[in-house]
Parts: sequence; C-alpha cells; structure tokens
Amino acid sequence: MTSDLRSRVAAELERTRARTTLLTDAVDEGDLIRQHSPLMSPLVWDLAHIGNQEELWLVRDVGRREAVRSDIDELYDAFKHPRRDRPTLPLLDPVEARRYVSTVRDKVLDLLDTVPLEGRRLVERGFAFGMIVQHEQQHDETMLATHQLRTGSPVLAAPAPPAGVVPGLTGREVRVPGGPFTMGTDTDPWALDNERPAHQVDVPAFAIDAAPVTNGEYEAFIADGGYDTPRWWSPQGWAHRVEAGLVAPQHWRRDGDGWAYTRFGRTTPVIADEPVVHVCFYEAQAYARWAGKRLPTEAEWEKAARFDPATGRSMRFPWGDDEWTPDRANLGQLHLAPAPVGAYPRGASPLGVHQLVGDVWEWVDTDFHGYPGFAAFPYREYSEVFFGPEYRILRGGSFGTDAAACRGTFRNWDYPIRRQIFSGFRTARDAAPGEGS
Ligand SMILES: [Fe+2]
Repeated sequence: MTSDLRSRVAAELERTRARTTLLTDAVDEGDLIRQHSPLMSPLVWDLAHIGNQEELWLVRDVGRREAVRSDIDELYDAFKHPRRDRPTLPLLDPVEARRYVSTVRDKVLDLLDTVPLEGRRLVERGFAFGMIVQHEQQHDETMLATHQLRTGSPVLAAPAPPAGVVPGLTGREVRVPGGPFTMGTDTDPWALDNERPAHQVDVPAFAIDAAPVTNGEYEAFIADGGYDTPRWWSPQGWAHRVEAGLVAPQHWRRDGDGWAYTRFGRTTPVIADEPVVHVCFYEAQAYARWAGKRLPTEAEWEKAARFDPATGRSMRFPWGDDEWTPDRANLGQLHLAPAPVGAYPRGASPLGVHQLVGDVWEWVDTDFHGYPGFAAFPYREYSEVFFGPEYRILRGGSFGTDAAACRGTFRNWDYPIRRQIFSGFRTARDAAPGEGS
C-alpha cells in the first residue's frame, strides 16, 4: 500500500519536473532572467523558488535533513519580495538554479524511500508530497502565462485541441434543481486547506450555461458597444475599464472587420467557438449583465460541477470520481489553447454541463473566504492571508493547469482586474418561478 503511494509520488514528481524543464529549457538564458511583465517573476525566479519550497517542506521538515541552501530562503520567499522587484534581487543564475533544483530533488527521492507516510498529519497519505507537486504545477501554469506575455518568436508548440463534437451547446442553459449539496471535501487526500471541510450548502434552483462563453458570443458584446456602455459594468469595473483602456480581451487586436489574437507568439484570426480567455472579472460581469444574466456564485458552480442528482452525492469531478484522462478535459498543457465548445462529451457533468474542468478558469461572483470550520494547514500563507473582499474566485482549471492541481473542489483566486491568467467564464441566472423545484 505505501509502496504504491511512494511510487505514485515519485512518478508525479518526475512528470511535474519534466514540464518545468520543458518550460525553462524552451528559452535562452536572457529570456530566463528577463522580466516579461511586471505582473510576473523572471522564469529563473520561479525555477529556484520551486526548489526552495521543496527543500523547506520535504528536505527539512518532512525529511529532517540538513539544509541545501538556507542562505537563499529569503530571496525566494514570495511574501518578502513582490514580483515587480524580483529581477533586481541577487538571484541564482540559470546554471545555479538548475543545479539547485536537481540537488534538492535527489535528496527528496532519497528520503521518499524511507520517510514514514503516517503518524503526522503533514505526511498522511503523502500530503506534503502532493502539496509540493501541486505547488510546482501551479508555478508551471504561472510560467506558461509568462510565456504568453513574452514577445519574440514562438518557442512552445503543441497539437491543436480536439474539435467540438456536441452541437448546440453555445447559448444553451442547464437547469440545476434547488436543494442542499455537499461543497468542499474531507476525503480528497491532496485537497488543500481552503477546499476543506465538506459542508452542506442549500442552493436555490438556478440555470447555468451548458458551456463557457465563447469568443463569438463575446465578439457580439463588443460589437454591441459593451465596452462603451457604463450600465453593464459595476462602478469599480467601469472605473477600471476606463483607466486601463480595455476594449477587448487581452492579446486581441482588430483584424479587418474581425479580431485576431496572439498566443504564444503566433497571431491568427479569433476562433468563434472557443471559450473566451484572458478576460478580467469585471469584463465577465459586464458581459453577463449585457446578456441579461449574472455570473454564477461559487456554490452554484460547484453544484453544477459535482452534484449527481441520481445519488444526491458530490463527486470529485464532473465525470465522476475517477482520475482525469485526456479525453475528459483539456488539462495539462497538452494543448496550448482552450478547446472549442463541445469537444469533451465524456467530461460533462450528470446534469449535462460541459467543460467545467479544463480549457479556461471560470470567474465566479464570490469573494475568497474559508469555509465554515476552516483551519489553515500547513501554513497560513497558502490561502488564509488572502481571505477577504479584494479577491474573486476562479474555478475549474485551464488548459495550462495540471490534473494534479485540479479537482471539482479546487479553488483559485485573483484580483478582479487580472487577465494575464487563463481566465474565462460562463453565465447563470435564478430559475424563473415554476422553473425551480
Ligand atoms: Fe510559490
């Protein structure tokens, strides 16, 4: 049993490191050290920070081994230095950073053979290892977002996502019956503190889009003057729209009568039936109002994603409790774009809601708070220090998110003005009287 767990942990660590290596080997030294946007760290900072977190938690805490480089802890503490300042720090250079992460990894693989995986909550069912795998995967998604902001010739390539095979999803709604469901989890072994504990939430009947809002739908909002009509926007959203000069999703530009976008260095016409991506919360909210709808709440999103009306149970994923497979959702950077609506019929929820997991993170209209009974574990800086009204929640993961860091319970958060992340949305509305039950 624990030897299965140990080999699974080793395989996840190795698979994750292959992705980190791909993202950092794809560019030259100058590109690793350069800051591609004030919102992002230099890639070489992410790389050594990945190793430093692994050293802190696995080498020193779990393994009780000697420090590899305690002199650099402060440099790679995300709370000590905001991203915009990181290029000015005396960081490890690319050669040193690569050597550092591989030294740390060798020690971790060595201690993984012998360290007890029980007796301490931190190691129970491999949690600390799962946390570090997820941490590295989260930085891999951040590094992919940095790649998207980088200028210059393309360095990443991947096959196109599968085609849409379920017709008629765009503009279709699914009605979700009212009543209680279980939100959050007590049982998912690698679920992080903010996904816990499981609790009952009574959600009135509502309708939610069967698929994320597409580029084609979003273009209609733009064409209808959506960006010039204050009444679709919240006061804060409108102030931001004016100040930032927003006119379309990030990376879009006019192309004759239509639009083109640039993705990972390649510019092409916008594909109408793909989920829109690189929009901020305020843009999502304005679109929803224009469409006569609203954004779903976090509880609505999770109920649409996990609730099985046949059993009354909440599942780990829309498709059930089984692990992700590539035919169920666009995760894992297998494709470097969202897939068209209708591309993942095997990933639909029992209620018939598609593409909740993968493709694009979905903004929901809920501030970031702990669930009732929340307890920070193993450190407050993972999520508790972010609780409050400044952040909005995103759900479901994107094409840039790895399956190890994505579940029906997984919660992401960011400022409502952010759109360098792979963020999209779907809309919802209250069920009409008589439509609910
Ligand atoms: Fe981090």
